Amino acid sequence: MSNVTVIGTQWGDEGKGKIVDWLASRADIVVRFQGGHNAGHTLVVGDQVYKLSLLPSGLVRGKTGVIGNGVVVDPEALLTEIDRVTAQGLTVTPETLWIAENAPLILPIHAATDRAREAARGERKIGTTGRGIGPAYEDKVARRAIRLCDLAEPETLDWKLDELLLHHNTLLAGLGADTFTKQALLDHLNRLAPRVLPFACSVWERLDEARRAGRRILFEGAQAVMLDVDHGTYPFVTSSNTIAAVAASGSGVGPSSIGFVLGIAKAYATRVGEGPFPSELHDETGRTLGQRGHEFGTVTGRPRRCGWFDAMLARRAVKVGGVNGIALTKLDVLDGLDEVKICTSYTLDGKSITSFPASPAAQARVKPVYETMPGWSETTQGARSWADLPAQAIKYVRRIEELIEAPVTLLSTSPERDDTILMRDPFED
Ligand code: GDP
Ligand code: IMO
Ligand code: MG
Repeated sequence: MSNVTVIGTQWGDEGKGKIVDWLASRADIVVRFQGGHNAGHTLVVGDQVYKLSLLPSGLVRGKTGVIGNGVVVDPEALLTEIDRVTAQGLTVTPETLWIAENAPLILPIHAATDRAREAARGERKIGTTGRGIGPAYEDKVARRAIRLCDLAEPETLDWKLDELLLHHNTLLAGLGADTFTKQALLDHLNRLAPRVLPFACSVWERLDEARRAGRRILFEGAQAVMLDVDHGTYPFVTSSNTIAAVAASGSGVGPSSIGFVLGIAKAYATRVGEGPFPSELHDETGRTLGQRGHEFGTVTGRPRRCGWFDAMLARRAVKVGGVNGIALTKLDVLDGLDEVKICTSYTLDGKSITSFPASPAAQARVKPVYETMPGWSETTQGARSWADLPAQAIKYVRRIEELIEAPVTLLSTSPERDDTILMRDPFED
């Protein structure tokens, strides 16, 4: 019996939430280990739609949800989300949600710094979600973060706020933005603390107990490998590592506990925010994919940029992410296209290259080389078995497997929870 770690292999929004919700029926505990409320996961269960940003998707199945130390937690966003899903009928209590007491917090000053810096970047902006993710991770590494456990200690909070304000107010004033007072931040935190602190616990210890008791753990990644701060299209990335290795450090388990790594890949590609996207389509086909796939950001509502499946980048994500199998989602969005294309290699300044360059200037000049395949006129939408898939769709899936050097072990054919085809149970691996 193994654990499973789910990660995105493209630029996010691959359908991780749907797959985690589906797999959660086989798990006992679902753990978020990085990112914050920049994530947006949409789960469709019958006529209910759940939009989650910070809460682990397993809560929808009534499983124990865990927010690990690798996550940056905005307590206000957390409570708003808890209230929203509670109104939808879910139960979120300190018994069902454990939050690492050593998780760093996102304060309103982080979002202010995030937005002021983006405004100052002008045309060179990253296109962040504006939720303070980058500044909060910077504070963690700079050793000035306020962590969840600090909310219980007025004295610690007092001197930590001084240090935080010195840093951020200097920056905000320099950028011509409004600064914050200590009292405003103290009032904010003191108002939220009584509701948030009961969730705080020693997550590593509880996960260790669960692991030894043979409970199945599902680690839920946010964002994706191409947004990883080391392996992604830097600087157009998020501020955390998103690869599977981080499931261990971001929750306090050993690396051997992360189990089977399931990479989620969309059958085409999308990206929100700025940054290189070699297989992006600026034509009618791109707009068709966007409309059929309802490609609008869950968090910001921005239209997602759309393009063909990029096998070069997906293969790289498989390698650096340690992916053992792929869940291929949104195959149905390609239904009815005359032809489908896969990016199989690149050229740079007219010369063939074997891998995506590291420098942003070179990344922006990369041109895709496509392999074209016939499309399929039959529908895959809602298919629940491999036998229901048209022959040409199967050929497309097989070609992707070949190119990215990983087996497709799950297929998703609609937003609905049960429109999923299982080829290999990752928990049994
Ligand atoms: P995540 O961030 O990776 O969890 O993905 P999002 O939830 O942000 O975006 C994926 C979107 O695609 C959501 O609206 C899902 O409901 C939807 N979705 C997931 N799987 C499928 C699928 O197989 N087909 C279609 N048409 N939509 C899907
Ligand atoms: P899920 O979990 C898609 C993108 C932002 C921006 C960049 C940096 O739903 O897949 P940040 O606010 O993190 O500093 O923004 O990363 N981004 C996402 N794009 N899905 C996400 O999460 C994302 N989280 C961040 O659009 O380009
Ligand atoms: Mg999303």
